[in-house]
Order: sequence, then C-alpha cells, then structure tokens
Amino acid sequence: MLESARVARVQKRGDDPRKILFDLMRHHGSLGDGGVVGDGRVVVRRVLSIRRAVNRIFRPDFSDFFVALRPFHVAIIRSLRDAQLQKKAEQECVHTSTPIRDDWPGYPLDLFTYPKHYSGDLECVYIPHGVIMDRIERLARNIMDDLGDHDIVVLCVLKGGYQFCADLVERIKVLCCNSSKTLPMRVDFIRLKSYLNDQSTEVLHIEGAENLSALSGKNVLIVEAIVDTGKTMKTLLDHVKAFRPKMIKVASLLVKRVPSGTGYLPDYVGFEIANRFVVGYALDYNEYFRDLHHLCVISDSAKQKFKV
Ligand code: HPA
Ligand code: MG
Repeated sequence: MLESARVARVQKRGDDPRKILFDLMRHHGSLGDGGVVGDGRVVVRRVLSIRRAVNRIFRPDFSDFFVALRPFHVAIIRSLRDAQLQKKAEQECVHTSTPIRDDWPGYPLDLFTYPKHYSGDLECVYIPHGVIMDRIERLARNIMDDLGDHDIVVLCVLKGGYQFCADLVERIKVLCCNSSKTLPMRVDFIRLKSYLNDQSTEVLHIEGAENLSALSGKNVLIVEAIVDTGKTMKTLLDHVKAFRPKMIKVASLLVKRVPSGTGYLPDYVGFEIANRFVVGYALDYNEYFRDLHHLCVISDSAKQKFKV
C-alpha cells in the first residue's frame, strides 16, 4: 500500500526509536525502516508495507537498527495480523488457525540443515521442525482441555500421519503426567492412499478398516497430516461413523487452501497453508521425503526426478 512512499524524518537525539516507529505506524498503518546516523540521531528513511517489512525482518541482511527493533516489529506485525484474522473470522464465521499466507516465501534452505541426498530437490523450508513441535505442544493442550478425563482411541492415518501422531501422543502423555486432568489413549492405525505424484486420484484406498468395530461407543480422535480438498476426510468420516463411535474429533497438522475445497475444517488444525505441495515430516512425494525433518516445498526438478 505505502511501499513507494518515502519519508525522511530526523528525530532528535534521545528519541526512543520504538516511539518513532509506533507513531509512523499509527500514521500510515505501516512500518518504518531506518538507521542511526553518526551523531546518534535516528533517521526513518522509508515506510514499508507490512509484507515488505516482514520480508526484511526474515532476510539476513537487515541493518543493526532492524535487529535492535526486531522484537518490537514482530509484536506489531503479530498484533495487526491477529486483528485482521480475527475480524475475518468474525465476518466469515470460520475457524482460523495460524494461517500461513499465500505470499509466504519460506525460509532459505541454507538457514537450516537437511539430508544431503535431497540437495537440489527443495525450494525452501516452509515450516521448520521446531515450529511444528511448538505448535503440537499447544494442540495437545487444546485436546487435553476439551477431551481430558475421557478415554479416547487415537486413529492415526498412515502413512503421512505417523510423525504428527507420534509427536502429538507424546505431548499428551507429558501433559497427563503434569496436569490435574488425564487422557487414557489407545492408538490404532488406518492407511489411506489417494495421491499419485502431486495429484489427488479419484480412487481412495482404505486399508486396516476391517477391524474398526473396536471403535463402537468410543471417543475417537482421527489424526491426519494434511487435509486439502476435504474429500478424503469426508469419506473416512463416513466410514468411521458406520462403526457408531460415541464421538469423533479430527486433528490435522495442515489444512491446505485449495480452490476445489469442500470447506471441511478439522476440529484441531496446526497450520493453514497455501496451495503448495509440501514434503517432509512424514509427508511424501511418491514415498520420498518422509525422512526429512522440516516441512519443505519440493522443487520442480524433484517432481520430475521422482515422478512415477
Ligand atoms: N504433500 C504431501 N502429501 C499431500 C499433500 C502435500 O502437499 N497434499 C495432499 N497430500
Ligand atoms: Mg502421500
């Protein structure tokens, strides 16, 4: 919005740079970029849009001034974004959860480590492993708050869901030891397959569905890695409902914004992501990349290389 606007504001020595930026923000609904000149005065050079400011913050070449102000900037961006998201959620009555915007470029690969055998196969680190783990910790708490003191059957959707399920169960186990509530869990597995290359096929294979009669009368928590169109999850839900569980909840680490989506939203969502094909953290492309720690965007050349 104000990307091209240039303002030169020279503030007196001793002015609090955070106040200058805050005033700018209030004025323009945006963020300032600046530096400290030789005599100690603060110069605000430019007004940046929120998006450009975010990009600058995550780029390694930002100025000292930016480094110094980083926590403050991040806080402003968060509060603005949270307010926007909350407003959107109120208007649309949708359940939003940690949406990652379409223009999120991901982190450069050289900021992180990943297996050598995938060099050249990835475009960026979309969600680092540590962030995934932190989010799972919170999901575990939400699940504990809602379902605590009930028995549940965790139904892990293989193969992609194995890592998310293992980490989620682990965090719930820790909470059971450290809170007044408890959540006895059984864990069962089901295998779904509907993807070839990066395309969803019409045919959904469900394996391990024969013995779901144990779900009858139980509280079931389906744990899935990713929901995109929502069609697979709807089919699975219909299938599980036929076994007459007492309650069904769904936790998905990712929900992808796809144009052909059914609008289905799980009860617990880790991250809402853009319509990009992501791999790692047990998500595959034709069985490759499950052995990658972070969630990454696959490169076009790797799509060709591992195509079947
Ligand atoms: N990655 C891996 N598996 C998937 C995806 C994805 O982005 N979407 C649906 N299944
Ligand atoms: Mg797959």
